[in-house]
Amino acid sequence: MKQKILNMLKNGKDFISGEEISKEFHMTRAAIWKYINALKEDGYNIESVPSKGYKIISLPDILTLEEVEPYLDTSFIGRNIKYFDTIDSTNKKAKEIAFDENEGTVVISEEQTEGKGRLGRHWVSPKGKGIWMSIILKPKVDPIKVSKITLLGAAAVHKALKNMNIESQIKWPNDILIDGKKICGILTEMNCELNMINYVVMGIGINVNFNQEDIPVDLKDKAMSIKISKDIEINRKELLGNIINEFEKLYIDFRDKKTISKAIKVCRESSALIGKEVRIIKGEEETLGKVLDINEEGELVVEFQDGTVDNIYSGEVSV
Ligand code: BTN
Repeated sequence: MKQKILNMLKNGKDFISGEEISKEFHMTRAAIWKYINALKEDGYNIESVPSKGYKIISLPDILTLEEVEPYLDTSFIGRNIKYFDTIDSTNKKAKEIAFDENEGTVVISEEQTEGKGRLGRHWVSPKGKGIWMSIILKPKVDPIKVSKITLLGAAAVHKALKNMNIESQIKWPNDILIDGKKICGILTEMNCELNMINYVVMGIGINVNFNQEDIPVDLKDKAMSIKISKDIEINRKELLGNIINEFEKLYIDFRDKKTISKAIKVCRESSALIGKEVRIIKGEEETLGKVLDINEEGELVVEFQDGTVDNIYSGEVSV
């Protein structure tokens, strides 16, 4: 009912009287008052004038389905959002519910207390300043192909930023950089049988509206936020909607047409690595080489110091 009243207020151009709401939903004035107060608690700024009724003055900066939906043009991704004010990790939650939820369900939290990065690292996720989300996917593809989903995610974030006139670079396979510093990381996890995927959880973390002081001292050389780089507050709802829209298009190509060529083109054109000398870290082992390309399979093509050329499909790369 809270939702219905919210929609009515959102659709109304001016004040909506208590009488109109009461007639529409067959409820008492006291009940309406209760719902209005609940909406105010959610952060909706609602003006109430005794002779006129209620009017929404401003919407809260929160990533609920109601707030994100106006920005979505997808058929299934993001149509079910499990929203949390605070949570340990959206990836962890998504894995807990993945068997019971449909493909395309997105878990979002305003804050993560135990955000998880790659290689067991902690992911700093302060309240209301980023996008911390995990998408549940159930592609019928060979589990070996799952790492490609990370590239689809990276390409989607890059395209979404571009739609908002923000230039970025993709550092294969899972980081997005602005001005050479990381603003986004992707952590893709899966649950599978020998040759069948049960589910994939793709977690995306974006430092959107961090101020300098929100970046831990030891990360200042490596990380930044979109706000710090552009000096403007970014509309998180618009960015989130854009990412989900771009991702769904690339994901459908991957799942149904078995192609990732559009995403590869984006990853190549905006690559932070092609042409660079890099260190490739795999466990204890470190090798030096030059990145030549990203091939159609999404692998990094590297020329090693001994002249051999190899395709790398996973690993940590540093410039
Ligand atoms: C990386 O190390 O670069 C990957 C970071 C991934 C962070 C995101 S935030 C949303 C989701 N939930 C998590 O606990 N981690 C991912």
